[in-house]
Amino acid sequence: MKFEKLFSNMRIDSLTLKNRIIFPPISTNLASITGEVTDEFIAHYSRRAKGGAALITVENACIDFPLTMMGATQPRFDNERFVPGLSRLVEEIHKYGSLAFVELTHPGLFGKELPAIAPSEVDLRLDGIKPHPMSREEIEKVALKFAKAAFIAKKAGFDGVEIEAAHGLLVNQFLSPVSNKRTDEYGGTLENRTRFAKLLIDKIKEFCGRDYPVMARVGVVDYVNGGIKPEYDGVEIVRKFEELGYAAVHADIGFGDKEKRLEPMAYKQAWRSNLAKLLKDGGIKIPVIAVGMIREPEIAESLLKNGVADLVALGRTLIADPDWPLKALYGKEKTIRKCIGCSECIRSRHAMGTAIRCGVNPVVGKSSGYEKITPSSISKHIVIIGAGPAGLEAARVAALKGHRVTIFEQEKEIGGAVRLGSVPPGKEKMQWLINYYSEVLKELEVNVRTTTTADIETVIRENPDEIVLAMGAEPFIPAIEGIDGPNVVLYSNVLDEKVALQKGERVVIGGGGLVGCETALYLATKGCEVTIVEMLPEVAKDMEPISRNYLLRELKEHNIKILTSSRIIKISESSLNIKKTDGMEIELDLDIFVAAFGEKPRKFEKVDAPVPIHIIGDMTRVGKIVEAIRDGYAIGFNL
Ligand SMILES: Cc1cc2nc3c(=O)[nH]c(=O)nc-3n(C[C@H](O)[C@H](O)[C@H](O)COP(=O)(O)OP(=O)(O)OC[C@H]3O[C@@H](n4cnc5c(N)ncnc54)[C@H](O)[C@@H]3O)c2cc1C
Ligand SMILES: Cc1cc2nc3c(=O)[nH]c(=O)nc-3n(C[C@H](O)[C@H](O)[C@H](O)COP(=O)(O)O)c2cc1C
Ligand code: SF4
Repeated sequence: MKFEKLFSNMRIDSLTLKNRIIFPPISTNLASITGEVTDEFIAHYSRRAKGGAALITVENACIDFPLTMMGATQPRFDNERFVPGLSRLVEEIHKYGSLAFVELTHPGLFGKELPAIAPSEVDLRLDGIKPHPMSREEIEKVALKFAKAAFIAKKAGFDGVEIEAAHGLLVNQFLSPVSNKRTDEYGGTLENRTRFAKLLIDKIKEFCGRDYPVMARVGVVDYVNGGIKPEYDGVEIVRKFEELGYAAVHADIGFGDKEKRLEPMAYKQAWRSNLAKLLKDGGIKIPVIAVGMIREPEIAESLLKNGVADLVALGRTLIADPDWPLKALYGKEKTIRKCIGCSECIRSRHAMGTAIRCGVNPVVGKSSGYEKITPSSISKHIVIIGAGPAGLEAARVAALKGHRVTIFEQEKEIGGAVRLGSVPPGKEKMQWLINYYSEVLKELEVNVRTTTTADIETVIRENPDEIVLAMGAEPFIPAIEGIDGPNVVLYSNVLDEKVALQKGERVVIGGGGLVGCETALYLATKGCEVTIVEMLPEVAKDMEPISRNYLLRELKEHNIKILTSSRIIKISESSLNIKKTDGMEIELDLDIFVAAFGEKPRKFEKVDAPVPIHIIGDMTRVGKIVEAIRDGYAIGFNL
């Protein structure tokens, strides 16, 4: 077997895990607004179990509604009336031989209900509101809520619970000197700071029995001044957790920038597995779980083989492809649809407050019926124009339905705008999506005709039963004086290296959307002096906030100048005239102007065709990968 260690058994307390793969808590907003699990919620978790993960952790549960609520919706574990629904969930997870855990969470000082409670009255909220420091009675009361929630979990059949002691939340707030300024027996020394974690496990064991497994996600590092340092108190906190009877720990992150625990695409695979290694090297005996950006079975196997960790947590990895474990087990790892780190899951669940969505997996958050692709009773010939993500996904699903599929692509390679999107620094993982489609379309025997420009007339000659147009978008070029000048180039020609810019050239990028900003970064790494000019008050404003902050920092670090609220009036051979919204006029020197003003759906001359024509992806409205793939799936599903 190729990944021997990954697929070897492991024990957590008295439980045996069939392999070393854990699905960690990923909140979904799929529970109902009143806290019940829904059919979509159950489908989501049972699907990850079906894919082969040994242990499924249900997302952060609400232990005291509404006081401890986080996010738009949460499954509730604060009343026995939720047990019947929860037990249905557990049964569906158990059906596939996976263990079921649930993460019990308290936001502490970040609570939405005011006054929020915390170990101390610290000023750590963005809104500046200070929490109420917990009295001893309040500490006992909260511990009781955790214990009652664990009891409900046990009653519903969960194999154990996980305490959220990371991410700056309540238990972490007790552990970290950043938030714990107490002078009583809950503050100061490490013994005192872990006393709340002791109270929790003692109470849970009292309610659920000594042998009921309790794991923890522990913040072993704070990325803030005066916080937990992994090599000192991080390891010692976990040693204490071990002594207290915790069954296993995730080597996770405490306070600090969210970027470190919800990493944007550019972060390296397994970059924070060093935290797990510190615990192992520090002599921790209970199972240590490495988490964060573990995307490929080879990487997971090497972490386990090299003694970096005992288990791996695969979060977004299994959102993108729940069958990752089975594919790795049966040598089909090339067909894994890897998480590319596009952050759509974070945007949907955190920033938008909607049900979770995945950029590359179109059925995330949907009912199980939508995932089931049943062969069509009539086998058709489907012809698709455009091999971007919309066309590729439509081809995949149509082929799975048993249709014969031909896809035309004018470029040498498939991938569409994703191919260009993978060029700027830190965006290389986008190429994974293209590799995935290459592999699966080959297996499904889809006829992919690259370097072939097609129109309706040419595809009609192929005798299709239905036609899908997925030709994407085309650049939007505003009517600016000088836009057709010799020193004006399109961003796509720059990223495609059809136009090579020289080191030291002064480049102005017109348009500060995602594409303009990433093209700017690409050119700055090539040694150009880059300025972005944007009409709106902000650049890249539609991006998910964590990834956006990362990108803005990169732009700054590469000395890219940004002019916002600035309208371009005229492009000349060696200068650019700009008018700011306050009326001020500026002239910039330039060598090259790069147009990145955005896209518009590609125009299509309507012709009468003897067969149905469907239009999908950016050709209908300019969006992102998530919309393109969702469109592709939907049309394929209905063909
Ligand atoms: C630089 C860049 C970075 C991006 N980064 C991100 C990101 O980080 N996250 C994200 O979610 N989205 C990103 N996007 C957007 C995303 O790539 C698009 O939304 C998505 O690719 C649209 O998919 P599509 O299949 O509809 O169209 P496209 O991907 O544009 O594909 C259309 C395909 O049709 C082909 N075609 C057109 N006409 C013909 C013809 N007549 N005959 C044959 N073939 C034809 C084209 O060559 C192309 O391959 C980025 C886009 C760019 C340009
Ligand atoms: C959309 C989203 C929701 C998350 N929700 C939770 C959560 O409820 N509790 C938690 O401890 N971690 C949560 N996480 C963090 C993940 O469990 C995991 O630690 C993180 O995503 C890094 O691992 P990955 O790169 O394998 O995804 C969430 C992550 C994402 C992307
Ligand atoms: S939405 Fe993007 S980041 Fe999230 S799991 Fe899917 S591919 Fe990964």
